[in-house]
Amino acid sequence: EDHLSAFLPLKGKQIMITAGPTYEAIDPVRFIGNHSSGKMGYEIARAAANLGAKVILISGPTHLQISEDHIHLIKVVSAQEMYDATMAHFEKADVVIAAAAVADYKPETIADQKIKKADETLTIRLTKTQDILRSLGERKRQQKLIGFALETNNELENARAKLQKKNLDFVVLNSLQDKGAGFQNDTNKVSFVFQDEVKSFGLKPKSEVAVDILNEIINLFDE
Ligand code: CTP
Ligand code: CA
Repeated sequence: EDHLSAFLPLKGKQIMITAGPTYEAIDPVRFIGNHSSGKMGYEIARAAANLGAKVILISGPTHLQISEDHIHLIKVVSAQEMYDATMAHFEKADVVIAAAAVADYKPETIADQKIKKADETLTIRLTKTQDILRSLGERKRQQKLIGFALETNNELENARAKLQKKNLDFVVLNSLQDKGAGFQNDTNKVSFVFQDEVKSFGLKPKSEVAVDILNEIINLFDE
């Protein structure tokens, strides 16, 4: 047990990860979505399993595949489905890492039939989706909560606002400054934002960013 824990520092921990985009239906054949690849979340899932954790990966639509032992994959489509799946597994989680690019708005109503082309303009009224991570923050007990943020301006200020509003342990701030950092790439440049501290990293593969994030979480447990 003791000698294993040195190599498997997350042994005995349950880690829930959200990943990928969500799709919000407009009608039976159309949706509102975004370009999230899901790579970051899947890399975290893989790395967490390698470090001994039991992983629940709640994934929006992606082309990615994962077949590791110790990873329980739950596929969802909409923000509401991601919310329901996340809530259902929150109690037993020790850590939640929200890497999903959840849609902020969804169509107020979903048309029963395919919307036909008619007038020159078409207006679709949108309403807010539930903020999954904020809801988890309100229910948080022993769990460590980690959020992501991608900002184009006032990066640190906005990241710290999310840290507080969502009751998080830290925010992984994605930098848009460098080419190669972002949605469809295999690399990322991130900073970990705490209330009174920022730790910045260089551009590196998402698989290595995943390990950096998990090492930071292991530090939180050691505190
Ligand atoms: N998030 C979530 N549920 C939502 C929206 C966001 O769980 N409905 C999570 C994301 O997975 C991410 C964090 O909240 O970990 C921050 O997401 P982001 O889109 O940066 O922030 P928002 O609160 O949605 O604010 P805005 O998009 O206006 O910056
Ligand atoms: Ca958002």
